[in-house]
Amino acid sequence: MLIVDGVSKVYQSKVREKLWKTTYKEVKAVEDLSFQIEPGKIIGLLGMNGAGKTTTIKMCTTLLEPNSGSITVDGYDAVKDDRKVKSLVNMIAGGERMLYWRLTGRENLNYFGNLYGIKEATLKQRIDLLLKEVGLEDAADTPVEQYSKGMKQRLQIARGLINDPKYLFLDEPTLGLDAPIAKHLRSYVKTLAKEKNKGVLLTSHYIDEVEELCDEVYILDKGRLILHDTPERLTASVFKENSLHIWVPALPNRTQKELEKLLRTYHAKMEIKQSIDLEEIEIIIKTEQEITSSVLALLSNHQLTVLKLVVEQPKLEDAILHLAERRIG
Ligand SMILES: Nc1ncnc2c1ncn2[C@@H]1O[C@H](COP(=O)(O)OP(=O)(O)O)[C@@H](O)[C@H]1O
Ligand SMILES: [Mg+2]
Repeated sequence: MLIVDGVSKVYQSKVREKLWKTTYKEVKAVEDLSFQIEPGKIIGLLGMNGAGKTTTIKMCTTLLEPNSGSITVDGYDAVKDDRKVKSLVNMIAGGERMLYWRLTGRENLNYFGNLYGIKEATLKQRIDLLLKEVGLEDAADTPVEQYSKGMKQRLQIARGLINDPKYLFLDEPTLGLDAPIAKHLRSYVKTLAKEKNKGVLLTSHYIDEVEELCDEVYILDKGRLILHDTPERLTASVFKENSLHIWVPALPNRTQKELEKLLRTYHAKMEIKQSIDLEEIEIIIKTEQEITSSVLALLSNHQLTVLKLVVEQPKLEDAILHLAERRIG
């Protein structure tokens, strides 16, 4: 079990006011955060940009020390027994950092494996196995600079598994990946947890990813925990509202009045925006109910041409904002 108990992290960030004057500003990145990761479970850590997700991951992987609170990994303290903890955890970040482009895939893995002081024979075996598992056998001896984006990402995964960690942290792992590659990565993450019994924590901006993978979710807002729940309950509680965007050339008063009347029966909210060039009007309707056909029928009865129509599914960001507001309000 990985236990985060009442952890806080404050950054001292330098603020240069004038050329000769530097002051320090305190940023509370994480405040009194507690959660646990069980082997075999996938935990989602969600929150807006700047919520403290990456800072949390860095503390769990011993890259940063908390200011207060404790992190223990299978009973070992992340600060006092950091060498032991390092051997139990690893992280995979999205993007293409942390790889040496001039080195081949195998050489990269060998380099990172050596940092963990893994015995040569064990390391060689593990590298062969990992290259096979992520489908890079044939590219093992090709320099990474010749890899495609998907191949680099797969090598990142192998790198993150080089010490055979019991707990794995994934910081926005599918960010910027093409859909099929992201899908493949998701199924691999599932295998790691469910078949290899690894404890996984991932951060993500994609609600479908969270729904598909996570057993539990924690939501952070400005460094504080605001929700701990199942993804099903999270989506059920806040994901009902769709927004319908309709662009029309004009919206006569009479039509607007009729529309308002219709929306009242649906308990829907409406917002009207005029484009800068005054050429079109955007009607935004938010509701939990299916309303599109009634609205279109009304507009058509009023002889209005619909220029464009977009139905927006709720976004994870919106849900988090909603929850954060509700907590404050
Ligand atoms: N090295 C740093 N120095 C100062 N402030 C930082 C540093 N890293 C992150 N922060 C600040 O800490 C807060 C949390 O950041 P971060 O953990 O990166 O959030 P997230 O990953 O959720 O976007 C933000 O306000 C960010 O600006
Ligand atoms: Mg981050």
